[in-house]
This record gives sequence, C-alpha cells and structure tokens, in this order.
Amino acid sequence: MSDRANEEKTDLTRRDFLRSATAAAGAGMMVSQVSMGQDSAGPEDQLNVALIGAGEQGRSRLMPQCLKIPGIRFQAVCDIWEYSQKFASRTLKAYDQPVTVYEDYQEMLASENDLDAAIVATPDFTHAPITKACLDAGLHVYCEKEMSNTLKGAREIVKAAQESDQLVQIGHQRRTNPRFMHAQKMIQEGNLGRITHVRGQWNRATILNRSTPKKYMMDEEKLKKHGYDSMNHLRNWRWFKKYAGGPMCDLGSHHIDIFNWFLGTPPSAVQATGGLDYWGEKTDREWWDNVLALYEYQTEEGPVRGFYQVANTTSFRGYYTAYMGFQGSLLISEQSQKGYMVREQRAEKQDWVDLAEKSEQMGQEAIELEVGKTKQKTKQGMDVKEAANKPPHQPHLENFFASIRGEQELTCPPEIGYETAVTVLRANEAVRKAKKVQFDESEFKV
Ligand SMILES: NC(=O)c1ccc[n+]([C@@H]2O[C@H](COP(=O)([O-])OP(=O)(O)OC[C@H]3O[C@@H](n4cnc5c(N)ncnc54)[C@H](O)[C@@H]3O)[C@@H](O)[C@H]2O)c1
Repeated sequence: MSDRANEEKTDLTRRDFLRSATAAAGAGMMVSQVSMGQDSAGPEDQLNVALIGAGEQGRSRLMPQCLKIPGIRFQAVCDIWEYSQKFASRTLKAYDQPVTVYEDYQEMLASENDLDAAIVATPDFTHAPITKACLDAGLHVYCEKEMSNTLKGAREIVKAAQESDQLVQIGHQRRTNPRFMHAQKMIQEGNLGRITHVRGQWNRATILNRSTPKKYMMDEEKLKKHGYDSMNHLRNWRWFKKYAGGPMCDLGSHHIDIFNWFLGTPPSAVQATGGLDYWGEKTDREWWDNVLALYEYQTEEGPVRGFYQVANTTSFRGYYTAYMGFQGSLLISEQSQKGYMVREQRAEKQDWVDLAEKSEQMGQEAIELEVGKTKQKTKQGMDVKEAANKPPHQPHLENFFASIRGEQELTCPPEIGYETAVTVLRANEAVRKAKKVQFDESEFKV
C-alpha cells in the first residue's frame, strides 16, 4: 500500500472511531464519563483542529486554552490579516504544533483533508457562511457568539447543523462555567423562592478603538475581497452595522443568555432605548454606545421583569447579572470574585447556610457561591469542582471536544444560541421602533 493509501486508511480509522462515538452518544448509549483533562488521549482519538479568525478572541483566549487540553492538535490557521496569522502560527510553533497558514477558509477546507473541527472566531457577519462551509466539509464547529448579526444568518447555522452529522457549539461559554452551573442549580432548587425580577449590566468605559501599525495595513483590494470597506472597519468591526449586532450582541448577549437559561424560558416582550450618545460626535462609529432594555418573562412560576444595561462610557460596577426572589437574591459574574447569595429575613433557615463561606455585600451578610458544595458532576459528565479552577472558555471548549468524542452533551448547541440571538437582536428592533416588541413562542425555534 502506498504511503498516501496508508495515510487514508489511518485517517479513516481515526475518523470512524470518532464518528461512531458520537453516534453512540446520540443513540443514548451509556458512555463512560471521562473528563477531557485525561492524559490518555492517543493518536487515534486526537482531534485535528483549525483556527479560523486568529484575532483577540481566537489567538489570546481560545487557542491558548485549547493548548491546555490533551488530545487537541492545531493543524491549520486561517486569517485574512498577516499580523494575526503570524501571531497565531508562531505561538503554535513554539508549542510544537506547526500549522499551515491560509488567508481563505475555502482554500483551507479544500486543501486540508485531515481536520476534525474548526474554531470560528471571525467577526459576526462571517459566522454563517464559514460555519456552513466547515459543516459541508465534514468538520465539527465551535462558532463564537454572536451566531450572526442577522436572524437570517443565525437561522442558517441552525439549519445547516440540523442537516449535518457534525456538532456545532456556540461560544456562550458561561453555559459550561461551573460557577454559573452551580448558581443555576441553587436557583432551580428553590433557594431564592419565586423569582420576580432579574437585572444585569455590562458597563465599560471604552469603545475599544483599535489602530493598525503601518507595516500591517492591508491593501484595499484584499479588504474588499473579504467584505471590509477599510482597515478601520476590519479592526473595529463591532461598531459598524454591516458586520455586527451592536452592544446588545457584543456584550449583552452573554448575560441575556443567562436570563433565559436561569428562568427556563425566553422572554415574552422587550422594550428598549439606546443611542450613540457620547461617542457619536467623537468617532465614526455607527452602533449605539448604550442600550437599556426591559424584558418580560412568563415563567412556570409567574411573571418576571428584567432590566439590562450595556454602556461603553462608564465602568460603574462592571459586569454581572442578578436574580431576585421572594426568599433571596443571587449575583454572579464571570469575574470569579463576584458570586454570592443574600437571603431575606423571612427565608426559612436551612442547615447548609451555617456551613457556607460568608462575606459582607452592601452592608448585608452574603453567602459565597461555592462550587462543589451542592453539585459534583453535571449531566454533561463534567467534574465541576475541577473545572472551576480553569480559565473561562476552557470548560466550554472541553465540552465541545468531549461531545465530539461522544463523552458529553453540548451545553450550547445552535438551538440555544438561536434563542439568545432572537432575544438580543429583537431588542435592537425595540430601540429602532421605540415601542414594545412582543415575542411569539414559535419565533425562538427554527
Ligand atoms: N465568547 C467571548 O467571551 C468572546 C469574547 C470576545 C469576542 N468574541 C467573539 O469572537 C469573535 C472575534 O472577536 P475578536 O474580538 O477576536 O475580533 P478581532 O477583530 O480581534 O479578530 C477577528 C479576526 O478575524 C480575522 N478575520 C476577519 N474576517 C475573516 C475571514 N473572512 N476569514 C478569516 N479571518 C477573518 C481578522 O483578521 C482578525 O484577526 C467575534 O464573533 C466576537 O463576538 C467572543
């Protein structure tokens, strides 16, 4: 047998192994709940991965966190910008993972025949075409949030995933964050009583203006070929309507996704106001620098009203979400030092409260949220105590890879990402129309 034929045979065996594991999990077979942190990943279950979009999120968070996961091997990097290509490929080489570099994802998909998965961390307007092309090429996809800057694009991803045998994980990483899983369990077990209100905010005092060193400017023709009007647009894409869904998508969707998750339902209505109030005269930006939204939810236990604020002019109290119930309230943030529960005077005393760590929060005694006290393993099979010490995206990536191997279930499949996309993109509509937008239950499904 020629070397090439031999290679193909090995490849088939490896892919067959991975596919049969996924199929077994899909058929509901019991599979051992092995943590992705195992050291035993052999060459036959190594996953070959491409990074598409090696910008801030791709090269500084997802790539380094993947490098901590045994059995994951980067094989290709695709980015249209030379700076990002070099940054990522040099880092990977230093980690003994030399990669082939591409400018065009279609060329990459046509040339690389041994890839198992792609991580897509490009600007939002490219997610749908890139994810669909990767699925067509037989790859599993980790697609960053927001699924798309349009509902049409988000729907295309759900449909493509439903029609394919591969998996798609959407990058709402809090869905696999042990602290958030723990908080969700505390709420589900009734520790807050009936929830009546939720609130959240993402306040930061900057619009992230990115400049470009002269030697890394791209020529206009190349920018146009990839859909960008200028280098400024490529670097600051999140501020222009053609490429992004505004601050409700960029920042708000992380939190509003958690409203939906913790309340067990998407909302029934939203009103919102927003504008380019401060940065408008100082920059060429299009998207609003602040949005304030009021959501209404009809949960099984009754109505819940929610308030969400995103602002790029003030860092006041940073970012978090809070859940207020008749027995107590819970506040949680991806910043691991922010996570506590306050019980109302009227709340029935529970034994575990005496054992919990306490702190003072705004003049009240607060119970620190301690992962592992009430929960050790999730239904996905992840050891939450171990995962609590990892950087924020790593458990979500591990969940993606473990799901490919049939060892876990995805925590954020496209159907969930779509619900969130509808929830935030229609808040933009409420701002534009300056009136309440009603949601129909059916619009959250594809
Ligand atoms: N989950 C999170 O916490 C989180 C945090 C930040 C960003 N994100 C998401 O990650 C994605 C990337 O954001 P970012 O901040 O890294 O942006 P960025 O501008 O820093 O990086 C984007 C990269 O994609 C490249 N690119 C653009 N178009 C491309 C194309 N067609 N093919 C290949 N490469 C292309 C750019 O050259 C750049 O290197 C966005 O979807 C964003 O919403 C998620």
